[in-house]
Amino acid sequence: MPQTTSSTREIPETGSIPRHVAIIMDGNGRWAKSRFMPRVAGHKQGVENVRGVIKACGERGVEYLTLFAFSSENWRRPADEVSFLMQLFVGALEQELAKLHENNICFKVIGDITKFEPKIIEFIRKGEQLTANNTRLTFTIAANYGGRWDVMQAIQKMLAQSPNLPDLKEDSLTPYLSMSYAPEPDLFIRTGGEYRVSNFLLWQLAYTELYFTDTLWPDFDEKAFDLAVQSYQQRERRFGRTSEQLNVPLIPEV
Ligand code: IPE
Ligand code: IPE
Ligand code: MG
Repeated sequence: MPQTTSSTREIPETGSIPRHVAIIMDGNGRWAKSRFMPRVAGHKQGVENVRGVIKACGERGVEYLTLFAFSSENWRRPADEVSFLMQLFVGALEQELAKLHENNICFKVIGDITKFEPKIIEFIRKGEQLTANNTRLTFTIAANYGGRWDVMQAIQKMLAQSPNLPDLKEDSLTPYLSMSYAPEPDLFIRTGGEYRVSNFLLWQLAYTELYFTDTLWPDFDEKAFDLAVQSYQQRERRFGRTSEQLNVPLIPEV
């Protein structure tokens, strides 16, 4: 059964626990600055924080967790910060991959990883293969990811497969998007107080519930995660319909 349901083509099934949570982990630099520490110390603490959020998702029955780790625009940062982030990424993978596998977690990376060192690419692919059949949670890292890049690479792949596609539809493109293995996110969280999407999953966020918090990523703990889920639980997901339509009883009264 395909995992993807297009929220614009049909109404997805929804429950009180979001199936797919996508997070922009923002605020590491400010976390460090407020402690008179270098920005990179904030990134280190940010990586430490990931473990707790994975655990919280696993325990609450979230099926897909997607974290934005490095955007296609983050190359604009000072070279030493970029290289620190790369090293941190590899170090964390080396340290955590076996544990992810032990915990039955499927690991994936989305983004243009061709820009990474061959050693890193190989490590990512090996990690994905090792954990491919795990079923507890699908944990995706978005690295050198951009929503526009995603749509463009999908169009390019689609045209390479069928250059004379006569009747182009939404469904023709979606299998080529980098998260085609997952349902669209139910809940989007951005930490760090900014109210923007910063070129994250642009296509996939069409009907996602958005949650913004001032909490900086290194401080975003299980309690903070639960607050986001509670906020999600208060939303009425209408997907274009009216409120009255949602409240129609399943069995008509006679
Ligand atoms: C998010 O924290 C991490 C990455 C973008 C890699 P920031 O580094 O953006 O932290 P702030 O926004 O400067 O506080
Ligand atoms: C978004 O954070 C990207 C990641 C968290 C990886 P940024 O800190 O780069 O976003 P902007 O620049 O404030 O929009
Ligand atoms: Mg930031």
